[in-house]
Amino acid sequence: MIKVGLILGIAGACRTDELVNLTVDDIEDVGSSLIVKIPNTKTNIPRIFVVTDVGNMLELFRKYLSLRPPHVKHKRLFLYYKAGKCSSQPVGKNTMGKIPNVVASYLKLPDVACYTGHCLRRSSATLLADVGVDITTIKRHAGWKSTTVAEGYVENSIENKTKIANQVLVGTTASATTKTVNKLISTPDRGKKT
Ligand SMILES: *[C@@H]1O[C@H](CO)[C@@H](O)[C@H](O)[C@H]1NC(C)=O
Ligand SMILES: *[C@@H]1O[C@H](CO)[C@@H](O)[C@H](O)[C@H]1NC(C)=O
Repeated sequence: MIKVGLILGIAGACRTDELVNLTVDDIEDVGSSLIVKIPNTKTNIPRIFVVTDVGNMLELFRKYLSLRPPHVKHKRLFLYYKAGKCSSQPVGKNTMGKIPNVVASYLKLPDVACYTGHCLRRSSATLLADVGVDITTIKRHAGWKSTTVAEGYVENSIENKTKIANQVLVGTTASATTKTVNKLISTPDRGKKT
């Protein structure tokens, strides 16, 4: 349950509530990936994300789904899994919100209490920002209406900070520009006046 929550939460920048409310009908297994729909109760426009077959993510998801008892009356995806058995009881908000905390404890990270339910959503946006994805994509991915929040992730991303550090400390961009300018200056005029 924790692993599947982690996978879906990070892949889709999910809020705790969204994971709690997720139903088996919201997920379509198309073989090579999962297509997950997060219904939006306010606007009725769902957010859709895909989980690709990285590592054994799809296998884990399918395994968890296969453990679902056959006579569960509701459609909620997340059921308690304890002592090697899946119960029919749906996972509540408190347990779902503890996933990052459980993962942080497992990884023996410091200050595990800081890992709240919101970390899945935050980490998802941070991971995207850190590989240099633009603000619009991050905004769409998380379903943020305003650009401000997404901007914060991009601005504080390691990608952004690294670029800045290179500019300050190594001067990569600056020296490249200087070289280009020098080359342009030293290149004989071939009559092009642009
Ligand atoms: C989750 O379901 C509850 C109960 O139906 C509802 O009040 C809440 O708005 C839902 N949350 C989301 C994010 O869909
Ligand atoms: C760094 O952050 C600023 C402010 O959000 C943004 O305009 C700029 O595009 C970012 N640069 C990179 C390399 O991501």
